Amino acid sequence: MGETIIALADLRYAAPVPQVPPTWSAPSGHLADRLHRPLRDLRISVTDRCNFRCSYCMPKEVFDRDYRFLPQTSLLTFEEITRLARAFVAHGVTKLRLTGGEPLLRKGLEDLVRMLAELRGADGQALDLTLTTNGSLLARKAQALREAGLKRVTVSLDAMDDAVFRRMNDVDFPVADVLEGIRAAQHAGFGPIKVNMVVKRGTNDHEIVPMAKHFRGSGVVLRFIEYMDVGATNGWRMDEVLPSAQVLARLRERWALDPLEATTMGETAERWRYADGAGEIGLISSVTQAFCRDCNRARLSTEGKLFTCLFATRGHDLRALLRSGHSDDEIAAALAPIWSERADRYSELRSQADHAEPGGERRVEMHYIGG
Ligand code: GTP
Ligand code: 5AD
Ligand code: SF4
Ligand code: SF4
Repeated sequence: MGETIIALADLRYAAPVPQVPPTWSAPSGHLADRLHRPLRDLRISVTDRCNFRCSYCMPKEVFDRDYRFLPQTSLLTFEEITRLARAFVAHGVTKLRLTGGEPLLRKGLEDLVRMLAELRGADGQALDLTLTTNGSLLARKAQALREAGLKRVTVSLDAMDDAVFRRMNDVDFPVADVLEGIRAAQHAGFGPIKVNMVVKRGTNDHEIVPMAKHFRGSGVVLRFIEYMDVGATNGWRMDEVLPSAQVLARLRERWALDPLEATTMGETAERWRYADGAGEIGLISSVTQAFCRDCNRARLSTEGKLFTCLFATRGHDLRALLRSGHSDDEIAAALAPIWSERADRYSELRSQADHAEPGGERRVEMHYIGG
């Protein structure tokens, strides 16, 4: 019976097992895909579960009591995650982001952080090790995560107004507890802390200015994310997207803002600074201004499937590779052709008027693959 459940859960997205090429050379750290994009950022989902039910990600009607999350035995172990991360680093990854679901629900996460913090890039430098969380457990865990070697955190928060926020997380979770988590993260010495606000027109767009007002001058970087058509369950509609240009216009009615240069290639956010020195904000415009051109992100699901785009329908079953006795060198060799053959640019194609949606296969869900 247990076996059957595992088999069904593992079938949710088609995932061929990568092949180890008959001959290969050692990773050079300069892997490029078909659009000449390097591999720099690995997002690792450590659980597909979450204690929130944000309607744009895990609507309650779908993710209810009967929904079958991955069984414990399907999950990659911390040792397996670290082994894979090491292979990705050999191919040039310099940034690791732990995501979920809600990553702080994974038991002993600080142990994984400790293991990943020991990895070094090709240049001998420590990696940029960060985590995206809904903040609900952060007050309790910030200090231990920091001590384990986590460097940064990004907290999702969609409103300052308690009633609006409780409605959006749909589990009646209060704003005050997330704010306490952010304070604990500041106290633990994380920096810079970022806050992600998904903006849905008609739901929380009136919270843009209050959110900006709250975080101005705090050292926390607030980023506004356009509501995306990710997954297949959130009932996405274009008329609920508030384009970043309008977010910016609303902020500029209130404060003077100047554009900033990108700090790293392939960055998701366009950065702006308050002219009065009260810090910066970011705009993530994956709907109205796709940023696929420099996309250097790979995503590893909780049970070890590799996705080369947030909007992919198929992964590559790295867990099968791990559990079939291959050496680290062989695993690194099997990753190379996956990235070299990558041509994903979903958001760019979506914005082309004549683009037809690929039919048939289900797009991967955000709670499963991480943000
Ligand atoms: P920093 O490392 O702090 O710059 O963060 P980041 O922008 O790399 O990552 P973060 O997880 O904070 O991303 C913010 C949001 O941008 C995510 O929650 C997604 O909504 C969106 N996003 C991130 N990566 C992609 C991507 O590759 N494609 C699309 N379409 N959206 C993305
Ligand atoms: N559109 C935009 N952002 C989303 N996130 C989750 N679902 C969506 C969506 N449909 C964001 C969350 C969080 C990160 C993990 O992804 O708010 O910041
Ligand atoms: Fe949970 Fe984050 Fe998805 Fe909300 S957006 S349901 S907090 S994983
Ligand atoms: Fe990268 Fe795919 Fe997002 Fe484009 S849509 S930025 S290729 S993850």
